[in-house]
Amino acid sequence: MRKKLVAGNWKMYGSLNENKQLLDGIITGLNGLCNTHTAVCVPYPYLSSVQNALQDTQIAWGAQNVSQYEKGAYTGEVSVSMLNDFKCDYVIVGHSERRAIFGEDNNIVAEKYVKIQEAGMIPILCVGETLEQRESGITEQIIKEQLAAVIKRAGIISLSKAIIAYEPVWAIGTGKTASPEQAQDVHAFIRKGIADQDMGVAKELTILYGGSVKPNNASELFKMPDIDGGLIGGASLVASDFVAICRAMNI
Ligand code: 13P
Repeated sequence: MRKKLVAGNWKMYGSLNENKQLLDGIITGLNGLCNTHTAVCVPYPYLSSVQNALQDTQIAWGAQNVSQYEKGAYTGEVSVSMLNDFKCDYVIVGHSERRAIFGEDNNIVAEKYVKIQEAGMIPILCVGETLEQRESGITEQIIKEQLAAVIKRAGIISLSKAIIAYEPVWAIGTGKTASPEQAQDVHAFIRKGIADQDMGVAKELTILYGGSVKPNNASELFKMPDIDGGLIGGASLVASDFVAICRAMNI
């Protein structure tokens, strides 16, 4: 059985106070929920306090980015060994906001992916097309290129220790979710492309959907055969919403 995961991406939101309330609400709300893996990917400065709050729970934690460099004169960067100090399980890599706003191309994403795995953490590799690309009919080509860069650098087997998140850029933070069928089509395309290279890896690969997942649309999305969970932005900042989404996956 493929691992199911619902992961929150807090992006650049939160404070010590807000995080405490949020995590208290999530821990209480998730009590007893065991089939679904749950994680929160938080801003770097909060890793220590989040680790303290979650270490005796079933909720995992991780980061939203990492440097492709090991160490050195890279002002403002954070390395994989630093994330290991805080026992992160997951690191998001290649989020469309990193690609679009911070200029991360497929090669940088592939380097980061490799570093994350070498350090023993699980990359949540984000792929997805913009609205313009979808409307030009090149969604599959874009996704294929994004994946190919990583597979070329790290090998197909590396995906047995990774998670993919399909996040159509036009659905992120817009309230405009991909329909379950639209999402399923791309998830199936991703799985098929990987199956062509390694059937075993494809079967076991967890593929998350991200982009305006809310309590009212989560279960329809999660029912689709190739959707194994969600990467949740806005709704992961509201304890009751995040808990409801995790419960939708657990059915
Ligand atoms: P929203 O759920 O706010 O659309 O964000 C999705 C996302 O970018 C998760 O990484």
